[in-house]
Amino acid sequence: MDFAGLKLKNPIIIASGPTTAKIEHLEAAERNGAAGVSIKHVMTRQTYQGKLRCYSSPERVMVFPSDKRLDLAEGLELIRQAKKRTSLAVLVNFSSQEPDLEAYGRLARQFEEAGADALEINMCCPNFGLGQKELGLADEEAEGGALTGQNPKLAAAIVKIAKENCSIPVIPKLTPTALDIGSVAEACVRAGAAGLSLVGGPSLAAPPVDIYQGGRPLYPLMGRSSFGAITGSAIRYNTFKITAQVAERVKVPLTSSGGIDTWEHAIQMMMWGAMSVGICTATMWRGFEAVAAIRRGMERFLEEQGYASYEAIVGLSLKYLTATDRIELGRGHAEIDPGRCKACGACLKPGHCDAVVAEEQQLKVLADRCLGCGVCVGLCKFGAIRMVEEA
Ligand SMILES: Cc1cc2nc3c(=O)[nH]c(=O)nc-3n(C[C@H](O)[C@H](O)[C@H](O)COP(=O)(O)O)c2cc1C
Repeated sequence: MDFAGLKLKNPIIIASGPTTAKIEHLEAAERNGAAGVSIKHVMTRQTYQGKLRCYSSPERVMVFPSDKRLDLAEGLELIRQAKKRTSLAVLVNFSSQEPDLEAYGRLARQFEEAGADALEINMCCPNFGLGQKELGLADEEAEGGALTGQNPKLAAAIVKIAKENCSIPVIPKLTPTALDIGSVAEACVRAGAAGLSLVGGPSLAAPPVDIYQGGRPLYPLMGRSSFGAITGSAIRYNTFKITAQVAERVKVPLTSSGGIDTWEHAIQMMMWGAMSVGICTATMWRGFEAVAAIRRGMERFLEEQGYASYEAIVGLSLKYLTATDRIELGRGHAEIDPGRCKACGACLKPGHCDAVVAEEQQLKVLADRCLGCGVCVGLCKFGAIRMVEEA
């Protein structure tokens, strides 16, 4: 595939995070079939002490207020090693903490010289700047990370400087907390972004608390803590939404991360408009085997469904999208298949529905009372309910 000028053997990129911080991770990513990696956030100055702390509920959500970033020397060395020891496309996820915007130009040159295949400029990290601001603890001048991605002018200025100083693709990673992510996307594309990297939101969350320990947040090894970046399944639907929203506004290729745990999620993300998919949290929970399973599933799907290429599925779902005042409501009702129904009564429970009734030990739907919401279909464990369209 040609993704924003990058050659990818498939759409899978390991998104920047704890599983892209060492050469051994990148080698494992390649062995398991990833086409590219975005290395862990490189910062010119560490804004505060960084060690990985997270609330982790496997397959559901991760909330992390802190992680170790790479410094510039570590980042450059990781790029060099990745180019020497793998054939992966290497994106460098980075941001500058220098006082002048020109620093982005200097960094772009350094990363290109080290061998990076693309710049993924980090305009999304909510763990500095944004978190403080949301708690009312930031000073007036707070900037960086997600605060950069909220500001179309600043985001575009950074893209422009980076692009003027290197010949590799510039792919800013945007924040879902922007007032209108479409405007930020358009500004970045006008400034020369070859592609965009997206991540679902809401950017920050608070973890659950231990109700038997005086409400202490359920982060391990932490005294006072903070909001944390939220990732994993909990943000999948918002990532779908942001992907579709940006795909409707700009024509450059998108790579989207946020809640991809299975190959089906990856295909769905592409149908919503992503040309490439980023995976991070699933690799923390299941190792790089998660990547191998996603890759195999995607390949099999394409073959079985007769799609000639990955590109053929990109954006297929967008034609169904319209404004809420223009949606088309079909007519129909739920129907219960008596052969499959075990009369468990789950479909009698929904508080808003009086269409399902029990008659002579059998459950049935009164079509004229059915609202057509489909909640009972999701509740039925036996696959006995389907929606029937009326002419
Ligand atoms: C612990 C952790 C650290 C992360 N560090 C970075 C980072 O350094 N730079 C970045 O752009 N994204 C970072 N991310 C975000 C991921 O790259 C990805 O965009 C996000 O987690 C959504 O994808 P996922 O649900 O597959 O994890 C991090 C995610 C996690 C869980």
